[in-house]
Amino acid sequence: MKIVVIGGTGLIGSKTVPILRQGGHEVLAASPSSGVNSITGEGLKEAMTGAQVVIDLTNSPSFEDRAVLEFFETSGRNLVPAEAAAGVRHHVALSIVAIDRTDNGYFRAKVAQEKLIETSGIPYTIIRATQFMEFLGGIADSSADGNIVRLPPGLFQPIAADDIAPIVAEVALAPPRNGISEIAGPELAPFNEIVARYLKAVGDPREVASDPEARYWGGRVEERSLVPLGEARLGRIGLDEWLRRSKARA
Ligand SMILES: NC(=O)c1ccc[n+]([C@@H]2O[C@H](COP(=O)([O-])OP(=O)(O)OC[C@H]3O[C@@H](n4cnc5c(N)ncnc54)[C@H](OP(=O)(O)O)[C@@H]3O)[C@@H](O)[C@H]2O)c1
Repeated sequence: MKIVVIGGTGLIGSKTVPILRQGGHEVLAASPSSGVNSITGEGLKEAMTGAQVVIDLTNSPSFEDRAVLEFFETSGRNLVPAEAAAGVRHHVALSIVAIDRTDNGYFRAKVAQEKLIETSGIPYTIIRATQFMEFLGGIADSSADGNIVRLPPGLFQPIAADDIAPIVAEVALAPPRNGISEIAGPELAPFNEIVARYLKAVGDPREVASDPEARYWGGRVEERSLVPLGEARLGRIGLDEWLRRSKARA
């Protein structure tokens, strides 16, 4: 089966592509660097020819509110007709848990991406994941005020990219759900505590302060604002194991 992974060179894409190839599928890791651009439309028609499944793992180069919204809207509007013309039978996208009940600019852009998928007429499955463990450093940086990282004490349940990629591959090979399924990491703890454990483990001297008023990308975080409320599939890699693996790779 031919599977196109748009964003196949990114963090999750580069882990998903080899899993699908090992399963004997013809997989195109599509991205601007391979001549496929979902914003300009370059290479999309050729990439989609003969594809049965498309996995969208793209991300915006800029996280600024307007830029990210424009990215996911434009990309989605270009992907839908290209996939429809090629007769794609399953569109899979990676989204984020709680985007429709926690407000920030990035989440609004992901809601727009999901809406385009849901109204596209192409059978689909949306996987909503919690924050990636690989993103913990970026979160600390974005919440830093000098040497203090201010984070709300709401619950947090990050998941490792190594747990996500096999699930994305499995979902892509299963029948479309025409709905959303949620995945999260195996540990649930206050946001500030997880980031503090991460910073300590990587030798970052910054202190983490628990601050209920601290914002996440500009949005307020209540106790369960970032974690699944219903049934979610859980990854196996906890934070300590992920830190061990990251150190071994470095
Ligand atoms: N970070 C989180 O905590 C989190 C949580 C849940 C879900 N997600 C979602 O997971 C998805 C994948 O994230 P990631 O961290 O794996 O992304 P990433 O590492 O930033 O990779 C982004 C990919 O998108 C490609 N790309 C960028 N612009 C493109 C364009 N115009 N046309 C085609 N491809 C383009 C990049 O190609 P180049 O390599 O050529 O630039 C790269 O392959 C995102 O949609 C994100 O919203 C993230």
